This record gives sequence, C-alpha cells and structure tokens, in this order.
Amino acid sequence: MRINEDILLEGQKVVLVPYNADHVPRYHQWMSSPDLQKLTASEPLTLEQEYDMQKSWKEDNDKCTFIVLDKQKWADPSIPEEGCMVGDVNIFLTDPSDPTLAELEIMIAVPCYRGKGLGKEVTRMMMCYGISMLGIKKFEVKIGLDNKTSIAMFKKFHFKELTVSEVFQEVTLGVTVNENVRKVLFGNMDFMLQREYGKARDSRQAANQPFSL
Ligand SMILES: CC(C)(COP(=O)(O)OP(=O)(O)OC[C@H]1O[C@@H](n2cnc3c(N)ncnc32)[C@H](O)[C@@H]1OP(=O)(O)O)[C@@H](O)C(=O)NCCC(=O)NCCS
Repeated sequence: MRINEDILLEGQKVVLVPYNADHVPRYHQWMSSPDLQKLTASEPLTLEQEYDMQKSWKEDNDKCTFIVLDKQKWADPSIPEEGCMVGDVNIFLTDPSDPTLAELEIMIAVPCYRGKGLGKEVTRMMMCYGISMLGIKKFEVKIGLDNKTSIAMFKKFHFKELTVSEVFQEVTLGVTVNENVRKVLFGNMDFMLQREYGKARDSRQAANQPFSL
C-alpha cells in the first residue's frame, strides 16, 4: 500500500517501518523456518519470490505491511536496520465490497522477543493505524487452533470467535470497533508517535557516517 510508504510509527518497545527491499533477506531467512511457516500458515518462497512479494505488498492497495523493529536497538545508529528486525504486521483488505473490513496478521519472528509485550503493543498500534488512517471498522484474524498465545492475545482486544474450521484446524476471531474497543486501543494515545520514515532513516544513517572535514 502506498499510503504507508513513508510512515514510521514509534511505540514504547517497537518501531514500525514500511517493508522495503533491504528487509527481504532477513525476512526470507525467518520464513524458511518450518515452525514459523506452521504458526503463520505460510508457504516457503524462494528469495526471488520474496522480493516480488515485497514489491506487491508495497504497490497493492489491499495490503498494508510494517516491519517491527526493536526500538532500543534502532536507537543505536551503528546497528543496521536489518539487525533491528524482530517481526512484521499486516492488514489485508479481504473484501472488495467492504473496505472497512480488515484481516490482521502479526508475527514476532525472533523467539527471544516473544512474551515481552511486543505482540500486544504491535497489535494495538496496527489497529489504531488501521482505524484512523484506513477507516477500518471490523478486524478479523485467522489463528491455528493450537496457537493459544495468539488466541489469548487477540481476546484481550475484545476479539470473539466467529468460526472454527476443523479442516484447516483454525479459528477465525473478529471484532467490531465500538466504543469499548476504542477505549482499549486509544486510551492514553501518547503511547504512539507518527513520523516520516525517510527522514528518520536518513538522520540515522547520517549519525553513523565517520566524521570528515
Ligand atoms: C502470537 C504473538 C504475536 C504474541 O506476541 P508476544 O509478543 O509473544 O505476546 P505478548 O508478550 O505481547 O503477550 C500478549 C498476550 O499473549 C498471551 N501470552 C503471551 N505469552 C504467552 C504464553 N507463553 N502462553 C500463553 N499466553 C501467552 C497473554 O495473554 C499476553 O497478554 P498478557 O501479557 O496481558 O497476559 C507472538 O508470540 C508470535 O508472533 N508468535 C509466532 C507467530 C504467530 O503465532 N503469529 C500469530 C499468527 S495469527
């Protein structure tokens, strides 16, 4: 989606940046893990296919993707951005007749970062972004039946069970954005800042240039 190509969202523990070509090798490395393929119901892709996918995610109007960075690492300009990557988060507009309905996907790919509140923060940030910037009013998420962590996390955001597929061994949870959900998401809104990604990246790179006269 072009709308987020220069957007950086800064939370307390994470920074979300648009998925760009520099992120592809690390992303591809993650997705070659059978565990992550199972948890995210994804098929393995070649590196070339992953570059094509990144391009389509950037250009297609029905997909909005951010890469999740460790904010503490990202604050150190000597660490390349790829070295700060810990996961990704996506919004898919799945129903062309209803642009207010979005499917959410989230992955904290690096195992040592799980269970530390990043998933919850990223979900909240992406839902706030989807509601405010994309006009989303309903979210859905498909989760493997044995992925108790993910199911528990989405229930914290008032998602309820919509359907269960025994064939695919997955549950679909959904939530309509009402006042209660807004309170959970938007209460204490200073938890998130929005900035221009290009400028932030340039000043990070400039800070890392050796000093010369
Ligand atoms: C599912 C996932 C996004 C959760 O993110 P996370 O950073 O690990 O989770 P958080 O630390 O933010 O915790 C969020 C909630 O999940 C639940 N949770 C976290 N760790 C858990 C664990 N080990 N066991 C059970 N529930 C757990 C809790 O309800 C927690 O909320 P609480 O801390 O208020 O009690 C992350 O683990 C992940 O990406 N896993 C691999 C890929 C995946 O499963 N993606 C989801 C596909 S739909």
